[in-house]
Amino acid sequence: MCGILGYVGSNNKGVKSVLNGLQHLEYRGYDSAGIAYIEDSKLNIIKETGRISSLVEAVGENHDSNLAIGHTRWATHGIVNKDNAHPHRVGRVTLVHNGIIENYMELKKELQTLGYKFNSKTDSEVACALLDYLLGKTGNINEAVSLFEKKVQGAYALGIIIDGDDNLYAIKKNSPLIIGLGKGENFIASDVPAIVDYTNKYIILEDGDFAKIQSDKVSVYDSKNNIVNRKTRLFEGDALSISKCGYDHFMQKEIYEEPEVIKNTSSAEIPDLSKYNRICIVACGSAMHAGLVGKSLIEKYGNIPVDVEIASEFRYKKLFLDDKTLVIAISQSGETADTLEAVKIAKRYGSDTLGIINVKESSIARETDNVVYTNAGSEIAVATTKAYSAQVEILSKIAYTLAKNEKDSSKLKEIKTYLEDLKSLPIIMQEILDNEEEYKKIAQTIYNQKDIFFIGRGIDYALAMEGSLKLKEISYLHSEAYAAGELKHGTISLVEENTPVIGIVSDKAIADKTISNLKEVDSRGANVIYITTDDIDTNGDFYKTKLVLPQTNPLLQPLVNIIPLQLIAYYVAKYNKCDIDKPRNLAKSVTVE
Ligand code: F6R
Repeated sequence: MCGILGYVGSNNKGVKSVLNGLQHLEYRGYDSAGIAYIEDSKLNIIKETGRISSLVEAVGENHDSNLAIGHTRWATHGIVNKDNAHPHRVGRVTLVHNGIIENYMELKKELQTLGYKFNSKTDSEVACALLDYLLGKTGNINEAVSLFEKKVQGAYALGIIIDGDDNLYAIKKNSPLIIGLGKGENFIASDVPAIVDYTNKYIILEDGDFAKIQSDKVSVYDSKNNIVNRKTRLFEGDALSISKCGYDHFMQKEIYEEPEVIKNTSSAEIPDLSKYNRICIVACGSAMHAGLVGKSLIEKYGNIPVDVEIASEFRYKKLFLDDKTLVIAISQSGETADTLEAVKIAKRYGSDTLGIINVKESSIARETDNVVYTNAGSEIAVATTKAYSAQVEILSKIAYTLAKNEKDSSKLKEIKTYLEDLKSLPIIMQEILDNEEEYKKIAQTIYNQKDIFFIGRGIDYALAMEGSLKLKEISYLHSEAYAAGELKHGTISLVEENTPVIGIVSDKAIADKTISNLKEVDSRGANVIYITTDDIDTNGDFYKTKLVLPQTNPLLQPLVNIIPLQLIAYYVAKYNKCDIDKPRNLAKSVTVE
């Protein structure tokens, strides 16, 4: 989603630092970008639609500026054009905004009656006008911000420059914002990777905070206008972790990092879950798909009912939560607005909350009662891969922990070597990665098709959903996942000669059932790609391609099976020459509802 970068310093590097920082935020997804900077006491604003490279070209080189703010916009209010792009300027105030001002229409009308005119369709320009009005009324920025916070409903992280003032200002509510602490220069950013080229020290602003930032001093005020000390933190990653290291794309690099991630995450400690009789998982997109894999594993081996709720729906449905229900929020970014809100709701019902989160100290990590970090490192590609796998690994550990408490000997027998199997899993995963020629061949047979189907039963259906999402989001091909037995209840009418149907069959107990469903589509001319495991003895003429994966502990099998699906999606997108790391319309961190 939108990205913010602001700079205040004394070495004239404002323009360069902001443009470079915005490039580090590209992965969040955007459709226009802009910068405002002071040079020779004059404010300049330049905005471009499309890629940051166009903005860099439009701005040109050799600027001397000690105060600058920049923004990447992911359109919400108003189409993608230069007027709607940030920064916005009204009166003395120039600002960049992340989030959504919910009551902006009402505020806009009020401001129009006061004589304000608007050039854009955005809620952000309204915020800018309001701040200008309040600044004129009070003559004091702190007072103006206090009034602003009282009047504005919604989410906002703002980076602000005021005419005739050398400071950089920031306001934060319900949308993430950090302050990077450099030497003789300080920054604001919506995400830590934006500033790692300059500093690894940062402060996380809290809701209601207002900050006045100078080159050598940062003052943070809380919502009651008291000066507060926010903890200085150190970013543990490095610039290398956010570079491609020779891979063509971040997505490819991140898939290849999975064995290492599984190793790093394997030491995660699972808290005591013995008091709960039900689990409710809240998440969005791939994190929700990881939740579905978790549901399958936890119910089967941990013997506890698990509901998986799409976080954006959870907010508006009748809930049956209590103190015996554990609500698990899964999120790579830790900033997904719907998941964050779901956690807040669950707490109001008296349920304990546990986060399975990748980004340390993110909003959901701070909001949940307990956190297990996935330790997948920075994930830059918009489409998640390694973080998804790390989420599944944590869920498999939860299933294992609950299974041990259950002491159901027949189930325990199936998974008893879990800990040793987990240790050897990275080697198996590496073998699968080394087989990439196979996935390329499959991608070659499907990359120019218009509809692609994924089918599976039980846990393989959950994997099919993730495989399908991965494929469609980066290659723009239409793809759908179906429970294997469900296809014939309507959708099979779309299957034509050569329509790809990818069947995932890794549960021996129900393999025959899914194979029958694959035969149904094979006999209608489908290009059946059959992905199975080496313990399932199937031959036959119902597939065009067969991919055999090593069978491992059932709690870990999904981590093996997902790799070919991720790599097939990657190569299909590559053959279609898509912008793999930054698919159109998508954002890495979805901070609006
Ligand atoms: C798909 C993808 C998204 C995210 C979803 C949740 O590849 O990345 O579906 O999984 O937006 O994001 P987080 O995990 O950050 O809450």
